[in-house]
Amino acid sequence: MKPWVEKYRPKYLNEVVGNSNAIKVVESWVKKWRSGIPEKRAILLHGPPGVGKTTVAYAIANELGYDRIELNASDYRTYKIIKRIVGSASVSGTLDPSIKGKIIILDEVDGIHARKDIGGLSAIKSLINITLQPIVLIANDPWGLPKDFRDLTLMVEFKRLSQTDIIKALKRICVKEKLKCDEKALKVIASNANGDLRAAINDLQAIAERTRRVSLEDTRILAPRDSEIKIFETILRIMKTEYCYRAREAIMSTDEEPDVIMAWIAENLPKEYEDPYELALAYNYLSKADVFLGRIYRRQDWAYLAYATTLMGCGVALAKKKKYRKFVKYSYPRVFIELARTKQAREIEKSIAEKLQIRKDGIYGIHGSKKMIRYEIIPLLKNIMKADIEEAAKIVKRFSLSKEEVKYLVESESLAEKILSESKKIKLKKEEEAKTLAIAEAKEAKKAEATEIPEMQKEEIKETKKEKEVKRKKKKRKKAKEDKGQQTLLGF
Ligand SMILES: Nc1ncnc2c1ncn2[C@@H]1O[C@H](COP(=O)(O)OP(=O)(O)OP(=O)(O)O)[C@@H](O)[C@H]1O
Ligand SMILES: [Mg+2]
Repeated sequence: MKPWVEKYRPKYLNEVVGNSNAIKVVESWVKKWRSGIPEKRAILLHGPPGVGKTTVAYAIANELGYDRIELNASDYRTYKIIKRIVGSASVSGTLDPSIKGKIIILDEVDGIHARKDIGGLSAIKSLINITLQPIVLIANDPWGLPKDFRDLTLMVEFKRLSQTDIIKALKRICVKEKLKCDEKALKVIASNANGDLRAAINDLQAIAERTRRVSLEDTRILAPRDSEIKIFETILRIMKTEYCYRAREAIMSTDEEPDVIMAWIAENLPKEYEDPYELALAYNYLSKADVFLGRIYRRQDWAYLAYATTLMGCGVALAKKKKYRKFVKYSYPRVFIELARTKQAREIEKSIAEKLQIRKDGIYGIHGSKKMIRYEIIPLLKNIMKADIEEAAKIVKRFSLSKEEVKYLVESESLAEKILSESKKIKLKKEEEAKTLAIAEAKEAKKAEATEIPEMQKEEIKETKKEKEVKRKKKKRKKAKEDKGQQTLLGF
């Protein structure tokens, strides 16, 4: 999905919110380019992040109908390219309407000076003097630039946006995205953004993508202001100090969890350190601190804490050659917003993993850790279930997956419903089969009973015949005895 900050970046000057005085100055400068060459051939837009400097530079190009040439101030080829462009005589397209004018946009001009790249600055200075094309320079803090350089430009200051302006911009997005946005929630986002509209829009998107609505409740995933201010202080001290003990002190004196401090450092390092070698070194120490933190949390062995804090404090602080004397607005780690956003997904995955592990019907479930199942089995399961409804239905039945879980796995409500109804069918079929089997068994049993009765009767008959025979024989013997007795009585 396209980031909303890009999707809703104003195209023309009249769509830019806030900083109305600055916009007026820009508009009159643009007007002058329409009819010739103004006295100041370069404009220097300066101010804090996320207030519309780059946006205004693009809008100037759109207003004039010029092609944009964006150059990196720290690239040595930049000056050669500018040199080639600045002399081309197609200003305002009057000489040859078929040739489109070009606008040169040079961002982070203050960065050149920070590296003592005076050569770069003087090259730009000489180009500004001769250019026939508009040049837009952008800087966060222009006051470190030499005065003679600044004097060559039309300086336009952009201020932090007011809460009202930010809310106005957010509301526009809510309408276009057809989101239900609670006014109070927008207020929280705006106040949290501290005048930075980019941050506010990013937060709005992070919240809205999850639920398609923005309520006060949803804004809880944004950092509470108090703890943010405290952590600002800690990060500032680590970033700005050149002493190991100060960096360690900064960490020890806060009650924030070490993993929270680490996330803040990781998020903000690139804003502070400009030299790529310093950045690489700092991140290297941070990654080592992360290894120790992992051991601490896993084994609950807090003896490692000293290593983790030293690596993330001193390691980061001493990775720079010299402290940067500039203002940096540290921002809330995106990773936390992302974690909050994906919390629901992680919980579903965990419950699926648990079900897959369970032994059922005497057959073992998947043998392995929940983590392994989440990373290795669930992605496979997703593919199988999306491709084959019948197979998916069997899986659902086998592991008793809930509707929510199936929906998560196949990423579609309608497909999940199909699979569930298929699984119900299988269940009904199995029950039906079990029933018919039971009936058949019962019949068999009855039949067996029926054939058993005559056998028994036969036995009984046999039995009675035998008894009768014995009785008869007994009677005969008795009679014979009696006869004999009578004979003796009669004197035979
Ligand atoms: N004044 C504004 N009006 C409307 N949208 C704005 C304004 N300022 C910022 N935005 C939004 O925020 C995004 C970022 O703004 P932009 O890139 O202009 O900031 P920037 O001032 O150049 O910041 P940085 O100093 O960090 O480069 C824009 O894409 C746009 O969506
Ligand atoms: Mg910018």
